[in-house]
Amino acid sequence: DDGRFYPQIDSTNSEAKRFAEDHPGQSALFVAEEQTAGRGRLGRQWMSEQGTGLYLSLLIRPEIEPSRASLVTQVAAVATAEAVEAVTGLEAQIKWPNDLIVDGKKVCGILAELSAEMTAVNYLVVGIGINVNQSDLPGEIQDKASSLRRLTGRKIDRQTLLRAVVERFGHYLGALQDDALLERMHQVYRLKSATLGKEVRLLGKADRTARVLDITKEGELLVIYPNGERERIHFGEVSV
Ligand code: BTN
Repeated sequence: DDGRFYPQIDSTNSEAKRFAEDHPGQSALFVAEEQTAGRGRLGRQWMSEQGTGLYLSLLIRPEIEPSRASLVTQVAAVATAEAVEAVTGLEAQIKWPNDLIVDGKKVCGILAELSAEMTAVNYLVVGIGINVNQSDLPGEIQDKASSLRRLTGRKIDRQTLLRAVVERFGHYLGALQDDALLERMHQVYRLKSATLGKEVRLLGKADRTARVLDITKEGELLVIYPNGERERIHFGEVSV
């Protein structure tokens, strides 16, 4: 597929969406050295200083129903976790829905954006931001986030990591048409989950605590509250 590189851009996700609207039917990869308006989930910003992190977006046009779109973010999380592990030797965990955690600290976030009709996805943009070679992170996120360089003590080649992410993403995306591969992908997701089986706080739910019973193939969190009530959670954030 088509790879597009930018020394500087507002956001690779925004660029991918603009491109998608102007180029029906096309898929592409967008990578930037620096983002001036990098976006995170839940309206947050994503620190994207020049030359340290990896900032990429994949524009894909899977022939799936909108309800299966979160599967693609699971694919991205699993692919990125394996790529990080292969390139750095670190062990990566996935915090629901799709943050990558190493040694309890966030090193990667994923922002998926969807354009869909009732029954069909038009396009999906999967944005992946990895803290690679930052030697310091801003004070306000120091205790929650880290970089691969800080965790390994060495500089990581971003090109190698990029190739590993894209290669594994392509592989696991086959899960959309292959039930056996879907099963394997889901197994890897569960195995690497930092959330499954844990007591968590559900942000935005008056900070209720609950235990995570399962993470479904549709990417929902199945939780049980102390009073025995169960709930399926489609969207949001948890803290352990
Ligand atoms: C999150 O954890 O909140 C998700 C962060 C996603 C950041 C990436 S960097 C590349 C792509 N472009 C963006 O503007 N955001 C995503």
